[in-house]
Amino acid sequence: MRVLLLLVFLVFCIIPAALSFRDTNWSKYNRAGKKETVDFRIALNQRNLDVLENTLLDVSNPESPNYGKHWTSEQVADLVAPEPYVSKKVANYLKKNGCHNVENHRDYIKATGPVDSVEKIFSVEMYNYKHNIKSDQAIIRSSETYQVPFEISQYVHIVSGISELPHLKSGPKSQRLRPNPKDFQATPAPAGPADPGMVVPQTIQQLYGIPSNYQNNQNTSLCLAEFAADRSYQPKDLKTFAAKTGTPLINVVKNVGPFQPTQPDLESTLDVQYGGATAQTADVWFWTVNGWMYEFSSDLAATVPAPYVVSMSWGWPEPLQCQQGIGNCTDGESSQDYVNRVNIEFQKIGLRGITLLASSGDQGAPGDGNPSCTSRDQPISTIFPGASPWVTSVGATMLAAPSTSNPNPIDTSDAPVCGIHACATSTQEVTCSSPSALITTGGGFSNYSPQPAWQSKAVNAYLNSGVVLPNKKFFNASNRGFPDVSGLGHNYYIVAADQMNLVDGTSCSSPVIGGIVALLNSYRLDNGKSTLGFINPVLYAAYASNPAAFNDITVGNNYCTESCCATTGFVATKGWDAVTGLGSPNFKPLLSYIQSLN
Ligand SMILES: *[C@@H]1O[C@H](CO)[C@@H](O)[C@H](O)[C@H]1NC(C)=O
Ligand SMILES: *[C@@H]1O[C@H](CO)[C@@H](O)[C@H](O)[C@H]1NC(C)=O
Ligand SMILES: *[C@@H]1O[C@H](CO)[C@@H](O)[C@H](O)[C@H]1NC(C)=O
Ligand SMILES: *[C@@H]1O[C@H](CO)[C@@H](O)[C@H](O)[C@H]1NC(C)=O
Repeated sequence: MRVLLLLVFLVFCIIPAALSFRDTNWSKYNRAGKKETVDFRIALNQRNLDVLENTLLDVSNPESPNYGKHWTSEQVADLVAPEPYVSKKVANYLKKNGCHNVENHRDYIKATGPVDSVEKIFSVEMYNYKHNIKSDQAIIRSSETYQVPFEISQYVHIVSGISELPHLKSGPKSQRLRPNPKDFQATPAPAGPADPGMVVPQTIQQLYGIPSNYQNNQNTSLCLAEFAADRSYQPKDLKTFAAKTGTPLINVVKNVGPFQPTQPDLESTLDVQYGGATAQTADVWFWTVNGWMYEFSSDLAATVPAPYVVSMSWGWPEPLQCQQGIGNCTDGESSQDYVNRVNIEFQKIGLRGITLLASSGDQGAPGDGNPSCTSRDQPISTIFPGASPWVTSVGATMLAAPSTSNPNPIDTSDAPVCGIHACATSTQEVTCSSPSALITTGGGFSNYSPQPAWQSKAVNAYLNSGVVLPNKKFFNASNRGFPDVSGLGHNYYIVAADQMNLVDGTSCSSPVIGGIVALLNSYRLDNGKSTLGFINPVLYAAYASNPAAFNDITVGNNYCTESCCATTGFVATKGWDAVTGLGSPNFKPLLSYIQSLN
């Protein structure tokens, strides 16, 4: 972590939401010792997946008499888990073959095995790997594809923890990028310069009409999920943040997974500070994951009690999930298997009444599949989980340069830090894009998931609006469009390791929208109603009922990445677009729609 002086103002750093390159920085060393241990998990084949999906859509449909009738974790497991003899058989097989700590979670088995047992079970050789950059990261893996033993193969969907090398991002960039202007040329309707002032919690509250000093229902909660060895915010930074911004101390009630508070990382710090500040006094959970989306989603689906809202500022292109997902996935088809399995876990989570949010990516339409803007064959890429239909995908906006005719500029005079450094005053939101910002919001269409009915009207209106679109061969226009909504993603003031940092990213936007969903849940809980759970059908219905529930973002495009512009991408326009979704939330009309539901 580099050191920034608190008073050095024009030093910026960036938090990439999306992991921005393929991580081949793992080096293979010697063969792993036979008695060393390996943690892995086996995802079992499930049942009744059609019922799962239809039930989730029904309880999430604001027009349905079953709206809000969520299920318990146990009811969900009763529906989808294989018959009990299956998980017992697989668990016993592992025990008999030398594994210990075998946990039977009904539709997945977690286990630890000594290297010699794991090698025999999965027909692989295990080696020690070390990460070249993150030198404290060492793991035991195989470079070969695992084989599932014949005795249990009919029950097994995928196995994680044996062959894949997890992706560890390189960490935030420490200087403001000074992009070469020649890389930023000739894109339509650029967003123009941004307000140079900082964003603090008051900026968000005023811009979106969120009440301040709101007393949350005691059961309101928000979870920030972190991956890739990002496992640390510093509790004392939360005190400094509260003092400098004049906001209540954030209430972290639960840490799940490894926690290393001595070395705060910017992603975790940002997520906790802005998720927590936006959700005000909600219970905040901080959850660090050893692994990737399958490990997290399977554990969350089985955790009781669980937080009601989860924000994930992480993502990677859908067809590249195998790089950090399951070992034997080497082509597009098996990445799709991985995505499909995680999407089932996401549905199970939604049916429990939990809302999942994910960043839409920081590299515009080119995405992490084409970060250098050079690919002509696949100029546009996607992101997972940000393009999953089962998460609320969140894009980024920024404030345009302040206009002299703005009658009600944002007033942040109650934030002490704004008396020292200029805070933003503009109220005009535009697409967050390079080079005015350090990132360009991701957005586009999934490679794998068809267009859900709840977004078809809004998305088809965009496709038929006459707006400039990429060549049809570069994206699946009949698939799920993302993001769903947007929130500010530029120039956030955070405190990490006692230092002030200014950060950009859809990493800012997702925890903020998560905090807003936590507040909306609070109003419903106060009225004895259900939580919002899988909220996407409600967001689109709120828009159809009252477009003023969202601030429409109509300026800008996502042709660029963090460092260059491609020759194609998506353009923001009136209504939903594949740049900023429905727009940013307008709290009062959105709340009144939500309060009108059962
Ligand atoms: C290895 O890490 C360095 C520094 O973080 C990064 O710039 C580089 O792209 C990585 N290499 C690969 C092949 O991922
Ligand atoms: C919070 O949840 C618990 C357990 O479900 C319930 O008993 C309690 O009444 C709830 N409190 C409020 C204020 O809703
Ligand atoms: C992984 O390998 C097993 C055994 O060869 C196979 O049954 C399974 O379909 C593969 N999974 C993926 C995702 O390719
Ligand atoms: C469209 O989706 C299919 C699979 O659903 C995929 O094979 C194809 O690559 C996608 N096309 C584009 C342009 O992304």
